[in-house]
Amino acid sequence: MMEFFDCIETRRSYRAFTPEHVSQETLENICKAANRSPSYMNTQPWEVFVAAGAQKTALAAQLRELAEADEPARPDLPFPTNFPKAMADRAETHRTDRAEALDLDPHGDGKQMRMNFLANFDFYGAPCVLFVGMPKSFSPWSVFDLGAFTNGLLLALHAEGLGGVPQAMPVGYPDVIRRELGVSDDTLIVLAVSIGYPDHDAAINRYRSTRKAPDTFIHWYGF
Ligand SMILES: Cc1cc2nc3c(=O)[nH]c(=O)nc-3n(C[C@H](O)[C@H](O)[C@H](O)COP(=O)(O)O)c2cc1C
Repeated sequence: MMEFFDCIETRRSYRAFTPEHVSQETLENICKAANRSPSYMNTQPWEVFVAAGAQKTALAAQLRELAEADEPARPDLPFPTNFPKAMADRAETHRTDRAEALDLDPHGDGKQMRMNFLANFDFYGAPCVLFVGMPKSFSPWSVFDLGAFTNGLLLALHAEGLGGVPQAMPVGYPDVIRRELGVSDDTLIVLAVSIGYPDHDAAINRYRSTRKAPDTFIHWYGF
C-alpha cells in the first residue's frame, strides 16, 4: 500500500480512463474508507449513488444532450459566479494550463475547448460514476463534511491504483440524475466523481495542477 504522504502528493484528477471494469467490491471498500471521514457531530450527511454499465451510459447520454443544447444548468448548490481576484487568477491558470496540456488554444475559436467541456458529461469516458449527495435540509457545515468525504474517497481510489475526478459540471442537471437513478427529491446531488483505471498515456493525465506556496497561506503565531 502506498505511503500516506506519497498518496497525498501524487493524487491528481484523471480525465481519461481505460475501459477496464471496476468491481463493486473495490468501490465498496473505497466508500467504507471514506466513511471514516470526520463530520459535524458525526452527522455523516453523505449518500452515494454509483452507476456503471448501461445505466451510466444512458445517464451520460441525457446529460450530454442537455449540455450540447446549452440547457442552463440548475445545480442544487448554485455554481459560484465570481471569486476574489487571487482565486479567479488561479482558476484561469488552471484553465490555460489544462488547455496547453492538450495542445489547445484556450483563446482560440473555442470548438476544441467546448469538446473538452462536453467531455465532462460523458464522465470523461470513465467506466463508472459516483454521485455524492446529502439531505435537502442541510446545514452549510454538511457541505464541508461532503468535502472531507470526497477527499477521503479520492485518496482511497488513488491508493488502490484507480483514478477519479471530482466534477461539478454533470450535477448542473440534478433532476435528470435523480430521475434516472431513482433518487428521492429530498436528496441533493452535490458532486460527481468519475472513476476508472487511469489511462497513463493520455496527454490530459500528464497535466499536473500547481499549488500556492505554503508561506502564502500559513500564518504562524508564538513560534
Ligand atoms: C468541487 C469541485 C468541483 C470540480 N468540478 C470539476 C469539473 O466540473 N470538471 C473537471 O474537469 N474538474 C473539476 N474539478 C477538479 C479540479 O479542477 C481539480 O481538483 C483542481 O484543478 C486541482 O487539480 P488536481 O485534482 O489534479 O490536484 C472539481 C473539483 C472540485 C473539488
